[in-house]
Amino acid sequence: MAVPDRSGRAREEKDVRAISTSTSTVSVGIHDISTATGHYALPLETLAAQHGIDPQKFLVGIGQEAMSLPAEDEDPVTLAASAAAPILARHGAENIRTVLFATETGVDQSTAAGVYVHSLLGLPRTARTVELKQACYSGTAALQFAASLVARDPSQQVLVIASDIARYALDSGGEPTQGAGAVAMLVAADPAVLELDPFSGVYTRDIPDFWRPNYLSTALVDGKLSIRAYIDALTGAWRDYREHGGRAFEDLATICYHQPFTKMAVKAHVALAEVAGQPVEKDVAAAQLADTLHYNRLIGNSYTASMYYGLASLLDHREDLAGQAVGLASYGSGSVSEFFSGTVRDGYRSHGRAAETRAGIEAREVIDYARYRELHEREVPVDGGEHELPRVTRAPFRLAGYSGHRRLYERNA
Ligand code: COA
Repeated sequence: MAVPDRSGRAREEKDVRAISTSTSTVSVGIHDISTATGHYALPLETLAAQHGIDPQKFLVGIGQEAMSLPAEDEDPVTLAASAAAPILARHGAENIRTVLFATETGVDQSTAAGVYVHSLLGLPRTARTVELKQACYSGTAALQFAASLVARDPSQQVLVIASDIARYALDSGGEPTQGAGAVAMLVAADPAVLELDPFSGVYTRDIPDFWRPNYLSTALVDGKLSIRAYIDALTGAWRDYREHGGRAFEDLATICYHQPFTKMAVKAHVALAEVAGQPVEKDVAAAQLADTLHYNRLIGNSYTASMYYGLASLLDHREDLAGQAVGLASYGSGSVSEFFSGTVRDGYRSHGRAAETRAGIEAREVIDYARYRELHEREVPVDGGEHELPRVTRAPFRLAGYSGHRRLYERNA
């Protein structure tokens, strides 16, 4: 607080210098990253056959092979808790004082979904928990807010979770780009995986490319507009990144893009390379991004988690990243974009979770079109009655049912 005399002003200036010195020397970033996806998988060849479409449109045209779908007893909360549990098993929970839950498929208009995750995981009561929303972007807002909290007090850790179920109307244009997944990250000082740069570029523009009114359970999208809006916002964020001290394009080993479908990342990379004065052909762009695309190609869009699935894919598939800078290109329709970067830490591979992520993807139960349609047509009951859900998921947490308009969660036996 300011003290209005000469000695007080001197003391205040000294305090400010002390704070800026302490924050600028702290390295902050992702200390651990863990994933979870839905119980079911629908191959896009199945969807193509149903709609009489050449499967190459999905496999090559949009770059997707399959989509994850939640089981009857999974939702964004259970996916989030399942993604975060391995982080707590490895690092404990005693330093976590904040839980930031990013989603655009929140389960309640009032309570943060993170509060249910906090309870399922048995996190300390001495923690703040909040939910963040801005389409697929809010995981990045959560990560940046977390980094600021840790910079202010490096003894604290923040659990950031991005979790979503991407759901469009049956037979709509967005249908092949559905998916489900969660990525949990522990943000800490002296991180083991990725040290975040202190600069980033941001961009906001009011544009109706994708939205979901409160009364709809499926998203609305103007697909072609969303592709243009993504590129416009991303290049705007890139320019802002450069103006705020961001690294040169050629100094980035690769870039992890938000991936509503993997081909979108390639389109974005071609556009960004052009703006950055380093143009690349589509096939070169695809090769440059290949390591970031493996998981998203198989799970589909996971909205807030999508770019972080891209980061997990990169860390799990590229062996020579230690000491190298990577870019992160975040986009959320509506729209907000942020371009930021970080340096991969030495020894990052030994902190990886490639086997767990791969196992989660491979464990999915592949379903046929009739089963997919049946699952899609299910809606959350709104009568406030007692509804027990079938025991399907093998994940560590499940949604047991509904009672009195409340969701009842439990550890899976
Ligand atoms: N073999 C190979 N490629 C094929 C093909 C075939 N037989 N048939 C079509 N394609 C290609 C098209 O050329 C096109 O590629 P291009 O964009 O590089 O030109 C691609 O497949 C998609 O075809 P298109 O006709 O544009 O598909 P669509 O009208 O069904 O729309 C989306 C595709 C992605 C826009 C739509 O699924 C959607 O709206 N998804 C949700 C929104 C979204 O993800 N937005 C992104 C920003 S967040």
